[in-house]
Amino acid sequence: MGRLNERVAIVTGGARGIGAAVARLFAEEGAAVTVADVLDTEGAKLAAELGAPARYTHLDVSTEDDWRRAVTETERELGPVSVLVNNAGILEWGTIEEQPLESFRRVIDVNLQGAWLGVRTAAPSIRRAGGGAIVSISSIAGITGYAGISGYVASKWGLRGLTKAAALELAPDGIRVCSVHPGAVRTAMTAGFDDSFTAAQPLPRFGEPDEVARMVLFIAADASFSTGVEFVLDGGVTVGPPTPLTSSR
Ligand SMILES: NC(=O)c1ccc[n+]([C@@H]2O[C@H](COP(=O)([O-])OP(=O)(O)OC[C@H]3O[C@@H](n4cnc5c(N)ncnc54)[C@H](O)[C@@H]3O)[C@@H](O)[C@H]2O)c1
Repeated sequence: MGRLNERVAIVTGGARGIGAAVARLFAEEGAAVTVADVLDTEGAKLAAELGAPARYTHLDVSTEDDWRRAVTETERELGPVSVLVNNAGILEWGTIEEQPLESFRRVIDVNLQGAWLGVRTAAPSIRRAGGGAIVSISSIAGITGYAGISGYVASKWGLRGLTKAAALELAPDGIRVCSVHPGAVRTAMTAGFDDSFTAAQPLPRFGEPDEVARMVLFIAADASFSTGVEFVLDGGVTVGPPTPLTSSR
């Protein structure tokens, strides 16, 4: 308890899933939290449950005006931002030949441009707070490739690169920037995935939103010598092929 006392955080996509778990844990640890999302009813309900100081704001992360308003209002009502969690994300399907261009663009706009706008808009506020952390939720799709979700994969690799560039630009101001790479986690995004999806993993199960939240908390509160790096939690799926090597000799 109290690991984020006196800190002010914005959590995008905070109305449900991983973002809601982060918002809850941050509030438990003493942070004042802005829950930011496009799901206004769910987001406002969660912010009310967190108790004061917490607020909900409508923030479509792909829109620069929404970002300006969200950061300005957060700073006015809660104080300068010290932690930004770029968590909002969408997954859309289709091979490169089949996916409509509009769908590809939407995924990039939300998952990558959204985080870029977040860094750009929140950095001055974090500077005014005297430093802090930006944590972007990428994916193991930012470590390896997947067929049928090229926009998502490209956006998540892009987030990893954005993290490194931002870490270099913002380190002089005491702002650390890291990316988090979850494997399959039980949320609305994976509602259509069955247990066979995780069966071949060294740890053969879905992760829970709270497991991601605890890693985000560690980065925000404790990982004071880490910036520009990837934190992976994926049940070991990216470690290597699951089949043991065998020899005929
Ligand atoms: N669930 C998984 O297996 C998994 C694995 C790796 C990474 N991730 C990433 O974790 C993040 C959270 O996903 P989740 O699993 O909790 O899914 P989710 O669909 O439950 O939550 C995503 C949240 O983002 C919000 N959102 C969508 N578009 C938005 C926009 N334009 N502006 C603001 N908010 C917007 C949604 O309303 C929702 O509340 C995403 O970035 C996702 O890519 C999820």
